[in-house]
Amino acid sequence: MTTRVIGTGSSIPDRNVTNDELAKVMDTSDEWICSRTGIRSRNIAVEETTTSMAAKAARKAVEKSGITPEEIDLIIVGTVSSDMYYPSTACLVQAELGAVNAVAFDLAAGCSGFLFALNTAHSYLSSGMAKCALVIGAETLSKMMDWSDRSTCVLFGDGAGAAVVKADTVGIRSVVAHSDGSGGDVLTCENRVTRNLLVQREQQFSYTQMAGQEVFKFAVKMVPKCIQEVLDKGGLTVEDVDYFLLHQANKRIIESVAKRLKVSLDKFPMNIECHGNTSAASIPILLDELVEQGRFKKGDIIVMSGFGAGLTWGATLLEW
Ligand code: ACO
Repeated sequence: MTTRVIGTGSSIPDRNVTNDELAKVMDTSDEWICSRTGIRSRNIAVEETTTSMAAKAARKAVEKSGITPEEIDLIIVGTVSSDMYYPSTACLVQAELGAVNAVAFDLAAGCSGFLFALNTAHSYLSSGMAKCALVIGAETLSKMMDWSDRSTCVLFGDGAGAAVVKADTVGIRSVVAHSDGSGGDVLTCENRVTRNLLVQREQQFSYTQMAGQEVFKFAVKMVPKCIQEVLDKGGLTVEDVDYFLLHQANKRIIESVAKRLKVSLDKFPMNIECHGNTSAASIPILLDELVEQGRFKKGDIIVMSGFGAGLTWGATLLEW
């Protein structure tokens, strides 16, 4: 048995913010942002939260899959921007949905969060530990940005995407996942510092810091490698693949990966132009949009690849 996607959903905040709007409040321009990243606008949370977007995306995925919330026995949320330290976003979503039979937990793997969550659900389903899982990527990174740092804040957007997966005979064919903690300092956001009755320190909340060019180099080197690895493991070649769904971090990263794999860019659908980088949410949002557009047909071969903070990266090969 393997793991099949049977329903998808997504949710983004109502408020869209264009590059031109950003240029009114910081020293940047549509030309600079778009030429370096492919981003023209992003949606930013006002009333929405990581939990509310995750629950909305999940509800849609459950509806589309035709299952009842009671059938879900596993919920994993890939996120690094949960609303609470505890309870987890997954437990909050469980309560919202009434998925009373599920075990629920969050998984932190930066922008690889959804992919690692999907791979984890695949392990549960393959081993028989679960039969029907809800996998979500949800982020409100706007609250973790230093809005005076134009080199990072213009890149990110908020949103959530979800997929219901079930044990089936057709679906995921192979998975690969990697981490390199020694390289993690290129993309960081500090948590609370130790402060208690023994340690008196001023509590300062820190924001996302990124060495952009280092992240760029890491991505264009490791993503093609892991895509090749997942294809080798699944006994297929790049020519067999119908769609490559990459984490939407930067259009130039995706173009470079396509070039290195010698595959037409047409096989790399993108939505970064209107959503920006939504971290763990980017792959499931893209997946849901493509499903809504009716782009996939039975038997299509899809590779998903995520990469991000940790460092973490990985790929999943599946048959639709
Ligand atoms: N508007 C205008 N100018 C800017 C902006 C901005 N928003 N941000 C930086 N600049 C300026 C810099 O100050 C610098 O000016 P200087 O030459 O006078 O010092 C100049 O632009 C060039 O800055 P660089 O940082 O060298 O710009 P670069 O060409 O590397 O592009 C970018 C930056 C877009 C972040 C690029 O490095 C990149 O795409 N990196 C990949 C990182 C990424 O995609 N991260 C996403 C999150 S990680 C993930 O999801 C895995």
